[in-house]
Amino acid sequence: MLRRLLLQPQPSTQRRRILSLYRHCSSSSTTSGEAPVSSFVEHLEDDNYDVSKHSSPQSSATLSIDRSGLYNPPEHSHEPSSDSELVKHLKGIIKFRGGPISIAEYMEEVLTNPKAGFYMNRDVFGEGGDFITSPDVSQMFGEMVGVWAMCLWEQMGRPSKVNLIELGPGRGTLMADLLRGSSKMKEFTKSLNIHMVECSPALQKLQYKKLECIDEDGDDKNVDNHVVSALTGSPISWHTMLEQVPTGVPTIIIAHEFYDALPVHQFQKASRGWCEKMVDVAEDDTFRIVLSPQPTPATLYLLQRCKWAETEDISKLNQIEVCPKAMDLTQNIAKRISSDGGGALIIDYGLNGIVSDSLQAIRKHKFVNILDKPGSADLSAYVDFSAIKHSAEEAADDVSVHGPITQSQFLGSLGINFRVEALLQNCTEEQAESLRTGYWRLVGEGEAPFWEGPDDQAPIGMGTRYMAMSIVNKKQGTPAPFQ
Ligand SMILES: C[S@@+](CC[C@H](N)C(=O)[O-])C[C@H]1O[C@@H](n2cnc3c(N)ncnc32)[C@H](O)[C@@H]1O
Repeated sequence: MLRRLLLQPQPSTQRRRILSLYRHCSSSSTTSGEAPVSSFVEHLEDDNYDVSKHSSPQSSATLSIDRSGLYNPPEHSHEPSSDSELVKHLKGIIKFRGGPISIAEYMEEVLTNPKAGFYMNRDVFGEGGDFITSPDVSQMFGEMVGVWAMCLWEQMGRPSKVNLIELGPGRGTLMADLLRGSSKMKEFTKSLNIHMVECSPALQKLQYKKLECIDEDGDDKNVDNHVVSALTGSPISWHTMLEQVPTGVPTIIIAHEFYDALPVHQFQKASRGWCEKMVDVAEDDTFRIVLSPQPTPATLYLLQRCKWAETEDISKLNQIEVCPKAMDLTQNIAKRISSDGGGALIIDYGLNGIVSDSLQAIRKHKFVNILDKPGSADLSAYVDFSAIKHSAEEAADDVSVHGPITQSQFLGSLGINFRVEALLQNCTEEQAESLRTGYWRLVGEGEAPFWEGPDDQAPIGMGTRYMAMSIVNKKQGTPAPFQ
């Protein structure tokens, strides 16, 4: 049993040798008709495995194998498997890695595996999908983020060229509402070069449609190059990571519900110290969570996170979640803002402090187990705003971090009340109902008091559960509405 828990993501020299032998043998077996991989694994169980008998004639070294760290695969079955491609892939990683994988690796595969990741092949948003986000709740959300961007652009001195970057734009609704809402501010929209950072080809296509994109040469099927949005005439390009977006131009970055999709490592306090929670395959071939028997490489990030917290606060916790990708991304954002000027807006649900155990799975608007049917449910975790603040401040001296403030404060200070009043002046009763519900969802707290429909459909306010934080170049002063 213990062998299944052993994890060596950075293998020892001996283990590296074994793994390279494994790969060598695996490929040569197909050409030479030698023993299949499974029997090679059995060979490794021998206490003294003589390489000279199993590899090329030139090799003569003898390896003595420590069996304790080796993976003990379950009985091999030839029954057809009902596992999805992603489940097979995950089990394959665990098998060939020789032990369980971190929750972060599991989460990353589940969400963004190029072939079968949750986001990669379909529209997961809205009533017919798995969950709803603020831009789909009401157009006012994207419009208010547009007001924030225009205010920052003013504070930046109205530059004639700006990179407007959105991280994880989903269906593209936020950007479309931002552009429509700011289209009268011609000087602003003319300055924009829009960059969508999106890993999902399916969502890239939806964004292209939502932004009413056309090819500059008149061919509206080209998603890759020389594309402009008919909404404002702004050029738009797509990237799969922030590092691909050109630098050297003042920058405005928007990340709405992007950080919560970044993979988290989970740690649990045990008698032997902090152990990492890992995903393994149980004897009955289902996934299960196990604890690492010894510190893992991600422990470095745990130490880093704990450095920013009070010892007293840490001592109260039995579990801690850490998101290294969020720390790294924030450092990249801070450095970009430091060199190019401008600022970033991060809106997400989370805490302004260390997060304990928040990872959750949602399928068809219901919470499910995170290990259930991976790839068919969204995985997300609370954002640790305090870690973001520290990461940004450590990355660059000339950036400042503001907030977090609640979404309700953020939208309220930017004038959402005036906007809803204006929209209500000129709409049908049905539209008014939808506007009021949307407004409550964005800024309210708890169940809407005005709701007359079925209890289980009462709109729940996201006004205090979601928070907004801004990172800006100090030259810009304090961004609106964080003053
Ligand atoms: C929770 S959705 C939020 C979508 C959108 N911002 C909204 O509020 O409706 C996360 C988005 O980030 C994208 N995404 C997730 N992980 C990513 C990654 N590592 N790189 C690029 N995009 C990613 C997803 O495809 C999706 O568009």
